[in-house]
Amino acid sequence: MQPGQLDHWSEYWASGQLTSLPADFAGNYDGEIAAFWETQFQGVPEGGKVLDLCTGNGAIALLAAGYFLAQQREASVTAVDAAKISLESMARRHPGREAEIAGVTFIDQSPVETLALPDAEYDLVTSQYGIEYCDWAPAAAQAARLLRPGGRLALVCHAASSDIVATMAQEAGDYEVLASLGLLKGLRRFLAGNLSFSRLRKLLQASRDRLTPAYRATRAPLFAYVMKTLEGLLTMNETQLRARRIELAAFVRQLELGEVRLNDMLRVNRAIHETPEWYRVFEAAGLRLLDSHEILFRGKHRSGHAYRFERPDSD
Ligand SMILES: C[S@@+](CC[C@H](N)C(=O)[O-])C[C@H]1O[C@@H](n2cnc3c(N)ncnc32)[C@H](O)[C@@H]1O
Repeated sequence: MQPGQLDHWSEYWASGQLTSLPADFAGNYDGEIAAFWETQFQGVPEGGKVLDLCTGNGAIALLAAGYFLAQQREASVTAVDAAKISLESMARRHPGREAEIAGVTFIDQSPVETLALPDAEYDLVTSQYGIEYCDWAPAAAQAARLLRPGGRLALVCHAASSDIVATMAQEAGDYEVLASLGLLKGLRRFLAGNLSFSRLRKLLQASRDRLTPAYRATRAPLFAYVMKTLEGLLTMNETQLRARRIELAAFVRQLELGEVRLNDMLRVNRAIHETPEWYRVFEAAGLRLLDSHEILFRGKHRSGHAYRFERPDSD
């Protein structure tokens, strides 16, 4: 993995979000998703070890730590991601989670495929919207290697049937509308000194005028965010705007990386769509599929597929 390849995730986690679906989960995952995970944690023996792969800001690892705390049970939780993880920002944004955070050992900037944790160490390996982002075969081999014989791998993964895919496709369309305005290009040119203030102002006004009906028609959060920023920028004179260069550059970068992140999620969803039996890769790595089912969040939102595998007692 190249340095900077996961900047779109590192910067996202630096914003302090706890899950990769902030529009649906203001705090941590709840409902049917949390219930699925709780059932998996119940099976971990006293003094057992849990490993969460592609953890992000630790959503599933924190659910595990919270569960063991509430049950007053001893178990260790380790959480791994290839991106930079930002516990300080997450803790600031979600106060009251100190005990859960203290219950997790985070290992960031560590791709699953080359993770050097010991063999046969973990009772439960977990991953949510995570392991499918890795190179499938080596990641599956790692999961099998890290599990102790009899240990379980539990996954909640993107699925071709998921409603999340439709939302992502819609958001990709919103980014296309944004690109058609030439707004980010214009802001980049202004920041580089290649566009005058008066030309930029015209561009900001034209962008706002075009986004207003698009927002009314779609209520897209992306348009709401951009329009709010445009309104603020349009109240500024040249001196004020130039004094806000750093914020302006951060706004541009946030939108650029947001699109890269969305495309990353779409890439993974497309790969799963093209290879619906992709999860067989875990069987090829020596694990036994126990069961799988669709996750219906709040009884109706198709939010992906859950899988449970076991490492056979004798390989
Ligand atoms: C969609 S996010 C999910 C994060 C978290 N599990 C959640 O449900 O909120 C996918 C995560 O996978 C991580 N990731 C992608 N490729 C990886 C790899 N090869 N090894 C480890 N982590 C990886 C990304 O950095 C990102 O944090």
